[in-house]
Amino acid sequence: MRTIKIFDTTLRDGEQSPGASMNVGEKLQVAKQLARLGVDIIEAGFAIASPGDFEAIKRIGGEVEGPVICSLARAREEDIKRAWEALKDTQKRRIHTFHSTSDIHLKHQFRVSREEALKRSVEMVKLAKSFTEDVEFSPMDATRTEINYLCEVVEAVIAAGALTVNIPDTVGYSIPSEFGAMIKTIFEKVKNIDKAVIAVHCHNDLGLATSNSLAAVLNGAGQIECTINGIGERAGNCSMEEVVMALRTRRDIFNADTNIKTEEIMRSSRLVTKITGMYVQPNKAIVGANAFAHESGIHQDGLLKEKSTYEIIRPETIGLHKTKFVLGKHSGRHAFRTRLNELGYALNDDEVNSAFERFKRLADQKKEIYDEDLEILVTEEFTTVPEIYSLVDLNASAGIHLRPTAVIKLKVSEELIEKTEHGDGPVDAAFKAIASITGTKSKLLKYEVKAITGGTDALGEVVVSLEEDGKSVTGHGSDTDIIIASAKAYINALNKLAARKK
Ligand code: KIV
Ligand code: ZN
Repeated sequence: MRTIKIFDTTLRDGEQSPGASMNVGEKLQVAKQLARLGVDIIEAGFAIASPGDFEAIKRIGGEVEGPVICSLARAREEDIKRAWEALKDTQKRRIHTFHSTSDIHLKHQFRVSREEALKRSVEMVKLAKSFTEDVEFSPMDATRTEINYLCEVVEAVIAAGALTVNIPDTVGYSIPSEFGAMIKTIFEKVKNIDKAVIAVHCHNDLGLATSNSLAAVLNGAGQIECTINGIGERAGNCSMEEVVMALRTRRDIFNADTNIKTEEIMRSSRLVTKITGMYVQPNKAIVGANAFAHESGIHQDGLLKEKSTYEIIRPETIGLHKTKFVLGKHSGRHAFRTRLNELGYALNDDEVNSAFERFKRLADQKKEIYDEDLEILVTEEFTTVPEIYSLVDLNASAGIHLRPTAVIKLKVSEELIEKTEHGDGPVDAAFKAIASITGTKSKLLKYEVKAITGGTDALGEVVVSLEEDGKSVTGHGSDTDIIIASAKAYINALNKLAARKK
């Protein structure tokens, strides 16, 4: 049985999804969960891309134990040096450098010959290797690269010291039979192939990212690059939960498995959803809300008699348990902390105290607190930003014969400012009042409301995405009152924009 390495790129390629940008605290939180999940490598960012990426890589490298921490770098000296700067204090580190190899890219985008691309790739692998032993190289747009040239590049970068060579299907163009054959050819033609691990990085433009990655495993690939919930550039990347569960469920075919603790899959999916604000479609394999919901009477009948009739994966395997009432108004700090530990969250005393205060407030409004509610409380602990604006009071009114009105009082730095506005509904009125107090020039890209658990007293979670000067941020807010949750989410996004400007 082979062990396939899982290289998670949620924090790099995943973050390239429109609107999915994460701040340093949020990335750290996701990275900690990826470590609990058992991924082998975390691509924590692209060090030269922004100071935020640089800092995230550095902090993840310093605080997250277990996986190898990796930074992406173009095949350029300044990129590789910056990646090294971000990684140098990390124990287990990797530099991942890449250069396009397809004629389409070389001719139209980079205007360099195949020879120049090969020479630069080799030189940059050597440079990366002078900093750290663990170097990965990707010939970008590999699936549209002439196969003999591709093999030549793979062989040359392995000779230069690359321990992993990743074959990306950058534009999601390949199909499983073709991609599997390409990996097979690489194994047959590249003389020093035994000196490196062959990885694959598939995009989902034709909905084939998971199938292509699995075809590659059948032909010798030893590392899969993927993201939680399949987020990523355009149609996204290969989805971690799909590829891992396909390998686990069909070990008989693949004769391979991963180090993933599958019981952490659902929690990882919820965390990434919460932080990026990108909800998973209900019929999404493995983590969609309907993935284990059986509607047909015939199926339900079969399931009641014997689960295996219609269930190929037990929901518990991915950490999906029946929502159960866990805590309430009378629960103490000890029970609260114990439950958080059971859920896998190790908070320090200050974090427990602050989350417990919010738990008590929530318990006053909502009789029964579920695991999902606790996860929201804890995630909020990690997704807060310095508060330039904070909500002091909100009063909203609406009705069939009433003009929707909101009175909002915000604390802006140390000053209290109150405004009243009207709108198409109470949320619109509240947003107008907040916009008028803060003088924001941002554009609202997305507004979404979701109930976390069932019942009319459920915690409502609101996600707001804003854009200003071409940069987007996602704000979150939760409350049993969705107008308050909406105002909190809008203010959270405005605080993130303000933090980013600073
Ligand atoms: O899709 C791609 O080719 C990439 C590379 C940087 C590996 O993301
Ligand atoms: Zn990619």
